[in-house]
Amino acid sequence: MKREQLYELAWVLPSIAIPVGMLVALLVTAFGMGIHVPTHVGTVDPQHLATTPPFDKPGVVETAPGTYHATLVAQVWFFEPKEIRVPVGSEVTFEATSRDVIHGLRIQGTNVNLMIVPGQVSRATARFDRPGEYLVVCHEYCGLGHHTMAGKVIVEP
Ligand code: CUA
Repeated sequence: MKREQLYELAWVLPSIAIPVGMLVALLVTAFGMGIHVPTHVGTVDPQHLATTPPFDKPGVVETAPGTYHATLVAQVWFFEPKEIRVPVGSEVTFEATSRDVIHGLRIQGTNVNLMIVPGQVSRATARFDRPGEYLVVCHEYCGLGHHTMAGKVIVEP
Protein backbone atom coordinates (compact mmCIF):
# COMPACT_ATOMS: atom_id res chain seq x y z
CA MET A 1 0.00 0.00 0.00
CA LYS A 2 1.24 3.46 -0.86
CA ARG A 3 2.01 5.95 1.84
CA GLU A 4 -0.79 8.32 0.66
CA GLN A 5 -3.30 5.51 0.91
CA LEU A 6 -2.24 4.77 4.49
CA TYR A 7 -2.76 8.42 5.43
CA GLU A 8 -6.17 8.32 3.81
CA LEU A 9 -7.07 5.18 5.68
CA ALA A 10 -6.00 6.81 8.96
CA TRP A 11 -8.75 9.41 8.39
CA VAL A 12 -11.38 7.19 6.81
CA LEU A 13 -11.43 4.53 9.53
CA PRO A 14 -11.98 6.91 12.51
CA SER A 15 -14.57 8.88 10.53
CA ILE A 16 -16.55 5.67 10.17
CA ALA A 17 -15.84 4.37 13.69
CA ILE A 18 -16.90 7.59 15.50
CA PRO A 19 -20.45 7.82 14.08
CA VAL A 20 -20.90 4.07 14.53
CA GLY A 21 -19.81 4.43 18.17
CA MET A 22 -22.25 7.30 18.67
CA LEU A 23 -25.09 5.33 17.14
CA VAL A 24 -24.34 2.40 19.44
CA ALA A 25 -24.29 4.76 22.45
CA LEU A 26 -27.63 6.23 21.34
CA LEU A 27 -29.24 2.82 20.93
CA VAL A 28 -27.91 1.55 24.27
CA THR A 29 -29.15 4.62 26.20
CA ALA A 30 -32.51 4.80 24.41
CA PHE A 31 -33.47 1.12 24.40
CA GLY A 32 -31.11 -0.50 26.91
CA MET A 33 -31.32 2.13 29.65
CA GLY A 34 -34.66 3.66 28.68
CA ILE A 35 -33.40 7.25 28.61
CA HIS A 36 -35.63 9.40 26.43
CA VAL A 37 -37.36 12.75 26.24
CA PRO A 38 -39.98 12.76 29.03
CA THR A 39 -42.92 13.90 26.98
CA HIS A 40 -45.67 12.85 24.65
CA VAL A 41 -46.97 9.80 26.48
CA GLY A 42 -50.45 10.26 25.06
CA THR A 43 -52.92 12.67 23.57
CA VAL A 44 -56.02 14.35 24.95
CA ASP A 45 -58.61 16.73 23.54
CA PRO A 46 -57.82 20.12 25.17
CA GLN A 47 -61.44 21.25 24.59
CA HIS A 48 -62.81 18.48 26.78
CA LEU A 49 -60.41 18.29 29.73
CA ALA A 50 -63.30 18.89 32.15
CA THR A 51 -64.82 15.54 31.14
CA THR A 52 -61.66 13.55 30.38
CA PRO A 53 -60.10 11.53 33.22
CA PRO A 54 -57.71 12.05 34.88
CA PHE A 55 -57.73 15.73 33.88
CA ASP A 56 -61.34 16.22 35.04
CA LYS A 57 -60.00 15.96 38.62
CA PRO A 58 -56.57 17.59 38.89
CA GLY A 59 -54.87 16.70 42.14
CA VAL A 60 -52.79 14.09 43.87
CA VAL A 61 -53.80 10.53 44.76
CA GLU A 62 -51.89 7.73 46.49
CA THR A 63 -51.69 4.75 44.12
CA ALA A 64 -49.60 2.49 46.40
CA PRO A 65 -47.91 3.03 49.78
CA GLY A 66 -45.45 5.89 49.22
CA THR A 67 -46.35 6.24 45.55
CA TYR A 68 -48.44 9.12 44.29
CA HIS A 69 -49.92 10.23 41.01
CA ALA A 70 -50.30 13.97 40.49
CA THR A 71 -52.50 15.23 37.69
CA LEU A 72 -51.87 18.82 36.63
CA VAL A 73 -53.60 21.11 34.17
CA ALA A 74 -51.67 24.16 33.02
CA GLN A 75 -53.45 27.25 31.75
CA VAL A 76 -52.85 30.99 31.59
CA TRP A 77 -51.45 31.65 34.19
CA PHE A 78 -51.57 28.99 36.81
CA PHE A 79 -51.32 25.30 37.48
CA GLU A 80 -54.28 23.36 38.76
CA PRO A 81 -53.81 22.33 41.53
CA LYS A 82 -51.57 25.17 42.73
CA GLU A 83 -50.27 23.08 45.58
CA ILE A 84 -49.43 19.38 45.92
CA ARG A 85 -48.81 17.84 49.33
CA VAL A 86 -47.01 14.54 49.82
CA PRO A 87 -45.13 12.99 52.75
CA VAL A 88 -41.34 12.80 52.70
CA GLY A 89 -39.92 9.77 50.88
CA SER A 90 -42.72 9.76 48.30
CA GLU A 91 -42.33 8.91 44.67
CA VAL A 92 -44.60 11.14 42.62
CA THR A 93 -45.50 10.72 38.96
CA PHE A 94 -46.61 13.99 37.45
CA GLU A 95 -48.92 13.87 34.48
CA ALA A 96 -49.79 17.17 32.87
CA THR A 97 -51.41 18.81 29.91
CA SER A 98 -52.43 22.31 28.88
CA ARG A 99 -55.87 23.80 28.50
CA ASP A 100 -54.73 26.58 26.17
CA VAL A 101 -51.20 27.46 25.04
CA ILE A 102 -47.76 25.86 25.40
CA HIS A 103 -46.45 25.99 28.96
CA GLY A 104 -43.53 24.46 30.79
CA LEU A 105 -43.29 22.53 34.03
CA ARG A 106 -40.10 22.65 36.03
CA ILE A 107 -39.89 21.47 39.62
CA GLN A 108 -36.91 22.89 41.46
CA GLY A 109 -34.58 20.42 43.11
CA THR A 110 -35.79 17.55 40.91
CA ASN A 111 -35.18 16.43 37.36
CA VAL A 112 -38.78 17.20 36.35
CA ASN A 113 -38.59 19.46 33.32
CA LEU A 114 -41.45 19.11 30.85
CA MET A 115 -43.05 20.91 27.97
CA ILE A 116 -46.80 21.14 28.48
CA VAL A 117 -48.44 21.17 25.09
CA PRO A 118 -52.20 21.37 24.48
CA GLY A 119 -53.42 18.03 23.14
CA GLN A 120 -50.44 16.14 24.54
CA VAL A 121 -49.86 14.45 27.86
CA SER A 122 -46.44 14.82 29.51
CA ARG A 123 -45.21 12.67 32.34
CA ALA A 124 -42.24 12.52 34.70
CA THR A 125 -41.49 10.90 38.04
CA ALA A 126 -39.55 12.31 40.97
CA ARG A 127 -38.67 11.14 44.47
CA PHE A 128 -38.89 13.57 47.37
CA ASP A 129 -36.45 12.54 50.10
CA ARG A 130 -36.09 15.96 51.72
CA PRO A 131 -38.99 17.79 53.37
CA GLY A 132 -39.73 21.34 52.30
CA GLU A 133 -41.29 23.42 49.58
CA TYR A 134 -40.36 22.77 45.97
CA LEU A 135 -41.16 25.57 43.59
CA VAL A 136 -43.01 24.62 40.42
CA VAL A 137 -42.52 27.09 37.58
CA CYS A 138 -43.67 27.54 34.03
CA HIS A 139 -40.50 27.87 31.97
CA GLU A 140 -42.05 28.55 28.59
CA TYR A 141 -43.15 32.09 27.79
CA CYS A 142 -46.94 31.91 27.68
CA GLY A 143 -48.06 35.52 27.69
CA LEU A 144 -48.34 38.55 29.96
CA GLY A 145 -48.66 36.63 33.21
CA HIS A 146 -45.98 34.04 32.45
CA HIS A 147 -43.69 35.23 35.25
CA THR A 148 -46.47 34.77 37.81
CA MET A 149 -47.24 31.20 36.78
CA ALA A 150 -46.00 29.05 39.63
CA GLY A 151 -47.09 26.44 42.10
CA LYS A 152 -45.48 24.28 44.73
CA VAL A 153 -44.93 20.77 45.93
CA ILE A 154 -44.97 20.64 49.71
CA VAL A 155 -43.12 17.68 51.13
CA GLU A 156 -44.21 17.10 54.70
CA PRO A 157 -41.94 15.48 57.29
CU1 CUA B 1 -47.24 29.23 31.45
CU2 CUA B 1 -45.24 30.52 31.05
